[in-house]
Parts: sequence; C-alpha cells; structure tokens
Amino acid sequence: MVIRGLWVCKIRLVKHFGLAQLLSFLVFACLFAALFIDYIELWVTSLKMNGVGGSQGGILPQSVPPTRPEEYLLMPSPLVCQRAKPFLITMVTSAPANQKARQAIRDTWGGEVQVRGYRIMTLFMVGQVSDPVLTKQLTDEAREHADLVQGRFLDSYANLTLKTLSMLAWARRFCPEARFLAKVDDDVMFNPSALLQYINVNWGAPEQELEEIYLGRVHLRVAPDHNPTSKHFFSKDAFPGAVFPDYCSGTAYVLSRPAVLKLSLAAAATPLPKPLPPEDVFVGLCAHTAGVAPTHSPLFSGGPPVPYARCCYQAMVSVHHTKPEEMLHYWADMHSKAPCSWVGVRTSLGICKFRALVGHVLWPVF
Ligand SMILES: *[C@@H]1O[C@H](CO)[C@@H](O)[C@H](O)[C@H]1NC(C)=O
Repeated sequence: MVIRGLWVCKIRLVKHFGLAQLLSFLVFACLFAALFIDYIELWVTSLKMNGVGGSQGGILPQSVPPTRPEEYLLMPSPLVCQRAKPFLITMVTSAPANQKARQAIRDTWGGEVQVRGYRIMTLFMVGQVSDPVLTKQLTDEAREHADLVQGRFLDSYANLTLKTLSMLAWARRFCPEARFLAKVDDDVMFNPSALLQYINVNWGAPEQELEEIYLGRVHLRVAPDHNPTSKHFFSKDAFPGAVFPDYCSGTAYVLSRPAVLKLSLAAAATPLPKPLPPEDVFVGLCAHTAGVAPTHSPLFSGGPPVPYARCCYQAMVSVHHTKPEEMLHYWADMHSKAPCSWVGVRTSLGICKFRALVGHVLWPVF
C-alpha cells in the first residue's frame, strides 16, 4: 500500500518535473548528504542514544588508583606539567615492546608542541614487564625522552583497565594544569589541531568554566558478554544490566578536567570485577556512575578503517589501525601543502567516510 502510494507519487512527480530534473535533484541530494556526512552521523547517533542504557544498576569497579609518585616506576619530573602548562595532555597507552610506534608518534603528532596557540604535551603509559632486557630498554628510553609513565602492574591486554586507572590517577595528581586529557592508543593517528578546533566550535573559548566532557566515538547499547569462556567475559554479578551504558571507544577519547576528577573518584569508590572489564567499558561505567554523559563525535574513527586522503585526515581527530610507517608518511603528506579549503575538507570527509563504510570493494585503488 505504502509502496504503491510512493509509486503514484513518484509518477506524479516525474510528470510534473520531468525525469531529468528529478534525477538531478537526487544527485544533488546525495552530494549534499556527502558534504555533511558527519552531521548526519551525529544526528543519527543522537537519536539512538539516551533512553536505553540508563541506570541498569551497574555495580562499579572498586580500586584505589595509585596517586603517590612512588607508585610509578618511571615518570618525567613530577613538575613536568607545572613547567609545560599544557592545555591538553595526551596520554598514549602503549605496550612496552612498541618502541617503533612511540617513536613514530614523537616524530609526528606527539612531543611538546604548540598548536593553534595551545600547549600540548604527549606522554606514554606503560606497565611492567618481566623481561629484564625490555625493562632496561624502557629505562633507557625514559631517560632519553622523559615521556614515559610506568605504572606498577604487569603490562598485558587483560590489564588494560589498570593502565587506564593508573593514567587517570597520574593526570589527576600530576597534571592539574591540563584542561583536557586525551587517551589515545599507540596505533592511532591523532590530530590535536582538529581536536582543538572541534572543542572550540562546540564548547566555545576554552577560557570559560569547563563542563564535564567525555568525547569520542560512542558505542551504543553494547550487551555484556556473559559467556565465561569468552575473552570479554563479564559476570552477571559485576553487571546485571542487559546493555552497558553508552561509552566512548577506547582507541581515542577525550576528558575535560572536571570529567577526569569525577571519573577517577567514581573509579575509586567501587570494587573491580574479576576478570577486569574492557578498558573502555570500565571508563563508561565510571562515567555513568559519575553522571557524566558521553558525547559522540564523527571525527573519531571506529569500525571500518578510514582510507587515507589528505583533506579527510586534516579533519579527522583520530584514525585507528595506523602503522608507524603509515603515520610518518601520512603526517608528512598532510602538512606538505596548504590546509584544505572548506569545500575540500567537506568533500574529502564525505568520500573517505563513505569509502570506510563501503570498504575497499568498490574502489580498490581510488
Ligand atoms: C595484572 O597486574 C597484576 C599486578 O601487577 C598482576 O598480578 C596480574 O598477574 C596481571 N594480570 C594479567 C592477566 O596479566
């Protein structure tokens, strides 16, 4: 019935406007949609958010995050933030053996830099290792670059949540100067300039009083895995709800200073389930308890890989699954020419997001 109605409507439209006009309208609409693909994504996501995932009685992780300096085996001077006064501190969660990834980050978006007039500092979060050779290498690396923070826990995939706890505690205690904390994985192409612009556009001049911001790619209504043999097992006692509260993907997310404080307090207030929950789910649970809602940004990649395009990458805040060599190559290319125009960015973003969705099937060599 509906389809027939549409069909009749279509025939009338065609009669009225002619096929050519109608087709050009469609093409125009598609182009328009492509230009504003990120706004459309934001709108669709916001429709799906709220409601479900509300307070489903998550029992919260308890742990007292280490805050004394002796809890960190390696770290830059405790006065590093007092000296550098970063507006944004980026803490990269890195596996101890990933020296190449860390070096690529230092050579590209990392280090201590000034972007759009704001100071930015990047540090690396690692855990302990049992291999004495690697331990020695880490000590040497820390001495040379003074940008490693090593927490007192065994570095393993299953312990990532401890790394995040350790990071939050470090930032809370040693970096009160930073207005924003970004947590980024070491295989992520991060773009502080795009982030600062996004913050400016959405929250105005950073001089004003900060809200609680928890920003990233929001995962909606993820169901806990109650299968005890699974890698992401989550016991019913630890979380009885049907879906987790919405949370930001762990590959890259950003917290404003008030959110860091609230989240780390929430994390300290409740017991840690065993086995540990995935890091991003854990942060989402803490945010939920703390009453901090996640904000979705289409400029954080997630899911399908985003193919490289200069103007697209100039606009994206984070792109994950980037190898160290790619990072160096892309970064050099992104900065080889003048910044892209507004139309250039819109078009490129539309195309690369669309390609990310369709995958490499349609345009293997575009
Ligand atoms: C996590 O870290 C703790 C503290 O170092 C350690 O006892 C535990 O074995 C680690 N767990 C895993 C799964 O690596």
